[in-house]
Amino acid sequence: MKIAMGLQILQIIVSISFSFAANFTEPNKTLETTVSTLNPEEVEKFGKLSAEWWSPSGPLRSLHAMNSIRVPYIASTLNCLRDGRKRRILDIGSGGGFLSEGLAEHFQNLGWSDTEIEIVGLEPNSELVNIARSHLPENLKGKVNYFVDTVENYVVRNPNQNFDTVVMSEVIEHVDNPAEFLKYAVRAAKPGGSIYLSTPGKSVFSWMTLILLMEHVLRIFPVGTHNYDKLIDLNDTLAMLRENKCEIREVRGSLYNPLLNVWHWNDLFIPVAYAVHAVKSN
Ligand SMILES: C[S@@+](CC[C@H](N)C(=O)[O-])C[C@H]1O[C@@H](n2cnc3c(N)ncnc32)[C@H](O)[C@@H]1O
Repeated sequence: MKIAMGLQILQIIVSISFSFAANFTEPNKTLETTVSTLNPEEVEKFGKLSAEWWSPSGPLRSLHAMNSIRVPYIASTLNCLRDGRKRRILDIGSGGGFLSEGLAEHFQNLGWSDTEIEIVGLEPNSELVNIARSHLPENLKGKVNYFVDTVENYVVRNPNQNFDTVVMSEVIEHVDNPAEFLKYAVRAAKPGGSIYLSTPGKSVFSWMTLILLMEHVLRIFPVGTHNYDKLIDLNDTLAMLRENKCEIREVRGSLYNPLLNVWHWNDLFIPVAYAVHAVKSN
């Protein structure tokens, strides 16, 4: 009886202290961080693939192969005049580093110095950030910085970001609150900066190729990698970008050949997989 009463009193004290603390929380900060884009199950799913991330025959080989089309395209969204000003790219959901490293390599091969290009990779799974950091070759280390973070937390903590290009490649279909995710991603871009987003479409064709064929029949991805309910229709993505004052510049479809492990741009395949290039209004 005495123990029960003691516990009740303790409970009251704790709840009073919490409501006291809540009253003194800065309202804006609470508002900014109440909506999380993180879905722990989705992030854990990719963490489990960390050991095989860079394996040429591993479950993510198609994602790595996608660099051959997306890296030059993303690079072309930058104003590539070399005028001494540093160009900055934000890679949201950078995983084990395929895209950040691919972009750094691309600019390295073009002779860009570390003072001309910077790539920031954000990834909420620390295991994957470790993989990305340890895979990065010595000569690219000055061009890439990886952080364990979500875009909403990163932008709230670093409000004056001015990225020339913000990249979300094969990520939005794994987040919670995609509208918030996109809002913070656009916020990280400078006015006039580019947004690049790629994701599977939401259609019977994407279900057949991505889920039925690639996961269940060919076993290219582990079964359950994609959740059909989380896929986003192109029109919804375009509407969200426009709501965030972005002008749509181009939409492309892409096609994967699993036999040769190669990707091609092909607009007939927009319902299966699409990429959007948009520009943030000045
Ligand atoms: C399919 S992988 C894509 C990796 C990389 N973008 C690429 O294309 O090579 C999806 C990545 O998004 C990350 N992710 C999931 N939810 C996220 C969120 N809310 N914010 C940022 N990244 C997230 C996952 O942890 C995973 O590394």
